[in-house]
Amino acid sequence: MNVLLLGSGGREHALAWKLAQSPLLTKLYIAPGNAGTALTGTNLPVGVNDFAAIKKLVLENQVGLVVVGPEDPLVNGIHDYFLADKALSKIPVIGPSKAGAMLEGSKDFAKKFMQRHDIPTAAFHTFSKETIEEGIELIHHTKPPYVLKADGLAAGKGVVICQDEATAVSELHALIMEERFGQASASVVIEQFLQGIELSVFILTDGISWILLPEAKDYKKIGEGDTGPNTGGMGSVSPVPFADPDFMEKVRTRIIEPTFLGLKEEGISYKGFVFFGLINVEGNPMVIEYNCRMGDPETESVIPRIRNDLLEMLIAAGNEQLSSVKMEIDPRHTATVMLVSGGYPDQYVKGKTISGLEQVSDSYLFHSGTTGDREKTLTSGGRVIAVTSYGNTMKEALEKSYVNAAKIHFDGMGYRKDIGFDVIKGTD
Ligand code: AMP
Ligand code: GLY
Repeated sequence: MNVLLLGSGGREHALAWKLAQSPLLTKLYIAPGNAGTALTGTNLPVGVNDFAAIKKLVLENQVGLVVVGPEDPLVNGIHDYFLADKALSKIPVIGPSKAGAMLEGSKDFAKKFMQRHDIPTAAFHTFSKETIEEGIELIHHTKPPYVLKADGLAAGKGVVICQDEATAVSELHALIMEERFGQASASVVIEQFLQGIELSVFILTDGISWILLPEAKDYKKIGEGDTGPNTGGMGSVSPVPFADPDFMEKVRTRIIEPTFLGLKEEGISYKGFVFFGLINVEGNPMVIEYNCRMGDPETESVIPRIRNDLLEMLIAAGNEQLSSVKMEIDPRHTATVMLVSGGYPDQYVKGKTISGLEQVSDSYLFHSGTTGDREKTLTSGGRVIAVTSYGNTMKEALEKSYVNAAKIHFDGMGYRKDIGFDVIKGTD
């Protein structure tokens, strides 16, 4: 089967690397891809939101399955676009319908969905231009920290946590009145601050059943010890020690199952990945956010732990036969360290030559923001390369990733030296 994978990050390189191992694969196309995905398939210069160009390449290349990496095309309705087109409607798209993608596309929708289905999450209220005064009142009558969330997609920058009233009021104003994220912040959710450790849980569903994938922990802050501004993610580890059978049973019964049944009950078509951004509040999982796709850099740690044929799994999801798939998980630990451009997550320079890639052994390199080829690879994003390793312990996996990270070089390169610090505390 020919497969088209949409996206261009480390998540997509990890998915492409795994798909390329499948005996069921004939040709793998990635649009637009990066220098890493070019090593596992054929990159095509088409944007993920250019549905007409995607249609053309699907038909020209006899693509039998489309896998959507990022959220944008899903929120923009690529699944529905395929279903509505006679020539495309039989080609399965892995990624939910526009209605399903609302779990990520609108915080207000996601919160109300959780409320309707009794899924544990922080208490919340939603405000807009008409009701901003009530939002300010709420801030004056509640205690910090204040959690403000732009309703729509804001490239991962839509959440602001404020430590005092005055900042919260001015941030609310900037989001709604000054339209910091345009239409995406026309509505803002203000929610209760939750204290706990976060983790990312993933399922794949065909709308009829679902399977649990390995969980992971992501390190979002730029600075060591979880300090400084948020990034797309500076590293990840899997498994997560506190996600023990007891905790995961709570996740299953209180969160995954009610979400799955809620979608079904509301007639929302969902074939694809659900990413549950969870927080462990004194042993009880609560939902921080839903995403309608896999996480990045979680995928770089999660995918290597899946022993199944990924293409077989995705074909089964496309054909609504996921219940026949039995997951086989690699018991080893994985650790991913993200190499980033100088200045990231603010302004950064692109086009730097990357050296040392051929020196790496015993780690996988999943490209996030690169262009060029094997001979000359250049940086082209804030997050540049994810270094992923296996280990019999988390420490061993981390050590390998760090040894190999140090062999790579580009001007301004940085990475966090403490990925997994909280997970390995007290372990060997
Ligand atoms: P999100 O973009 O929804 O993933 O939020 C970004 C980050 O903000 C999360 O990973 C959390 O660290 C933090 N956050 C979001 N909501 C809350 C909350 N209700 N309480 C505490 N922290 C939160
Ligand atoms: N790593 C968080 C995300 O993919 O949204």
